[in-house]
Amino acid sequence: MSEIERYLDSKLGEDVDRRGFLKLSASAAGLAALAACGGGTVTPGPSGPTGAEFKLGIVLPYSNVYAELGSSITNGIQLYLNKVGNQAGNRKITVFKEDEKVSTDDAVAATKKLVEQTSVDMIAGYVLSPNAVANRDYLTSNKVPTIIANAGANVISRAKKSDFIYRTSFSNWQPTHPMGSYVQDKLGLKNVLLVYANYPAGAETAQSFRETYTGKFAAADVAPPLGYTGDWAVWVSKITAANPDGIYVFLSGTDSVGFLNKANELGALKNIKVTGSGFFVEQDVLGSVGDRAPVGAVSGLHWALTLDTKENKDFVAAYRKAYNKPPDVFAMDGYDTGRVLVDALNAVKGDTKDPTKFLAAIGAVSFKSPRGDFKFDAATHNVINPVYIRELVKDPQLGYTNKVVATVAGVADPGK
Ligand code: PHB
Repeated sequence: MSEIERYLDSKLGEDVDRRGFLKLSASAAGLAALAACGGGTVTPGPSGPTGAEFKLGIVLPYSNVYAELGSSITNGIQLYLNKVGNQAGNRKITVFKEDEKVSTDDAVAATKKLVEQTSVDMIAGYVLSPNAVANRDYLTSNKVPTIIANAGANVISRAKKSDFIYRTSFSNWQPTHPMGSYVQDKLGLKNVLLVYANYPAGAETAQSFRETYTGKFAAADVAPPLGYTGDWAVWVSKITAANPDGIYVFLSGTDSVGFLNKANELGALKNIKVTGSGFFVEQDVLGSVGDRAPVGAVSGLHWALTLDTKENKDFVAAYRKAYNKPPDVFAMDGYDTGRVLVDALNAVKGDTKDPTKFLAAIGAVSFKSPRGDFKFDAATHNVINPVYIRELVKDPQLGYTNKVVATVAGVADPGK
């Protein structure tokens, strides 16, 4: 056996992916050429990416009210990166994670640690609206390319839009804007009560609802503190006292679980139409509340587990295989965040020295996502989303989940 044959034989015994195989063929050709000119002993070249490591810093909550959201987004990002062998543009992608926790102080400290101590090439993450806003000026003045993977603060697409920040998830305005008129015209509700976590994402959701719902409100908004750990009966009883014909809810993570469990126990939602932005009935919440799910709830969101497209079915199957549970909207946003990074890094062939060019490549990414068509709005750096109006059902195969009853295509935040 010749030296080349021995080398190929040893390599082909390994589990090489297609990319590795192409590299291998190239190096084999090189070896053959060398051998042809009598080139003596050769050392095989490396088969992985040869460029500098690309350090991706992730800031997401791994504790408190939104811990499950942080874990889903991380899983989604990792699933996409694994799909491409954790490399793009000839650079190995390495992930560094820090806990966003809840407060802006913690989220800023997490960002600074990744930028100043780990020297990351990019930041992705942020679940809480105030945390995206609190980091915005620091990320911008330090020219850190950033992808927001959840936090919906409207101002990030408007007065505080940044050259260095794109958002793959939504603005708080987006999922709710089509819902106000739907609740009024299609569901016929005339006396609604707003229920939301008392912080900017809740307030912006309520504001967006008021833009398209012009009916009456049954009472003053019911707004428990974010991350409420007291007795939910205090808040649920306010709904009963107000006697609305429907509620519109923004709660997420353990806030929604606590609320739905107590509302079910007290029978508070029996004669009320339950509506909201889809986070309060997303798969993370449904996995926790089981039979206490508010079947029939109507919600707006840019994704549903049940979307019947090839892209979504492939994503859902891959996610289930990797994590042994269904994905939720946060996992999907993470998966798309991974894709945007990989496509942009490939487009600039791994050269991120000039952040302006890298950011332009990020802004130009478009593809068929599990959510539908994905593209950024150049005016806002926010993704243009389909908004699906979904109804909560108990599916014989999928269990509690949301089926799509109407679609509003191309919903773009009104920022300029
Ligand atoms: C936000 O703070 O922007 C936020 C948090 C959780 C969600 C949606 C938005 O589910």
